[in-house]
Amino acid sequence: MEENFTMAYKKGLQKVEYMWKHLEGFPHITRNGEWLVNQNGHWTGGFWIGLLWLDYLEYGDTGVREAAREWTRKLRCRMADNTTHDQGFIFGPSSVMGNRIFPSADFVPLIHAGARNMMDLYVKEVGLIQAWKEEGYQGISIVDTIMNLPILWISDELKGETEQKEVCQRVARRILECALRPDGSSYHVVKWDEDFRVYGDTHQGYSAESCWTRGQAWALYGFANLYRYTAQEEYLDTAQKLAKYFYEHLNKNRLPAWDVTFQDCEEMPVDASAASIAASGMLLIADLLEQKGESGKAESLIEQGKKILAAETKLCLYKEMERYGIIRQVTVDYPRGSGIGESAMYGDYYFMEALFRLKYAGNRDMLRLLY
Ligand code: GLY
Repeated sequence: MEENFTMAYKKGLQKVEYMWKHLEGFPHITRNGEWLVNQNGHWTGGFWIGLLWLDYLEYGDTGVREAAREWTRKLRCRMADNTTHDQGFIFGPSSVMGNRIFPSADFVPLIHAGARNMMDLYVKEVGLIQAWKEEGYQGISIVDTIMNLPILWISDELKGETEQKEVCQRVARRILECALRPDGSSYHVVKWDEDFRVYGDTHQGYSAESCWTRGQAWALYGFANLYRYTAQEEYLDTAQKLAKYFYEHLNKNRLPAWDVTFQDCEEMPVDASAASIAASGMLLIADLLEQKGESGKAESLIEQGKKILAAETKLCLYKEMERYGIIRQVTVDYPRGSGIGESAMYGDYYFMEALFRLKYAGNRDMLRLLY
């Protein structure tokens, strides 16, 4: 791994250890550089535990391993929470990763619970998963769900069953049909009416027809990861198309504006978390292509992923321990004025995960540990 990335990985893990010693709850996002914490993991608690697992894999400190297990136990309070689609985010980097690194009875019940909660949100008439079971959010699914679908697959794989796998495939197909546009961009939201007619919209993007960059990043990563589990070629082709669109719409400095409408518009903030997710997703696609013998395409995606990570390392890495996370310049939710120029657990986790993918490129035993 190049020197700047080695330095960033070391700094990042130093911050994880600092945060572990100082935080009294799950870190979610920062406000003016201070972490907002919670006791139930919100939708981002899994990323915090994933960072602890990365630290354990690097240094082998059993204290960190036990901390990761203890934080995962705290997520038991979410086992019956079927009000959100975020089950893969919550139980993936925490319990799936935990079960692969240090198999124990702690993790498997959480994986099955996450899958059950997802199944509760499946609306078979449209073949989609409702994003949130909350007043005002009926008939809404979001492209981000693609990241959560593997929990269905993994749970069935552990149980030796197929019902959840079938739902996983049906929902992925419907996201592909309803949320993706022919030019390789994506709708953030897919809504349906009383007659189950579907149409595209947005929640965190600029407009229904624009492309919210974090949604695009979730989509490119999500389809690649689903290919990893299902071996459906169409998912890998889709991931490449989405990645191409993402890369072609970066600002000149190789960071994404928070929505592609504002590419290279200096007054508009970037979203470094979209950069982290997309970089890790591109390296995942590259690894999958490499395994198929498509080295030329893989090489080009590695170069693109590295360019994004180099931009983040130069412009967003926050080296002081006391404030912010590992990566600054995240835009959490521009339309609601939330978390602009801040840090977020997903910006930090996927930045570190991307560096992990670079560090262990081609090492199957290490890469299979990731959710
Ligand atoms: N799924 C929520 C987000 O990316 O903000």
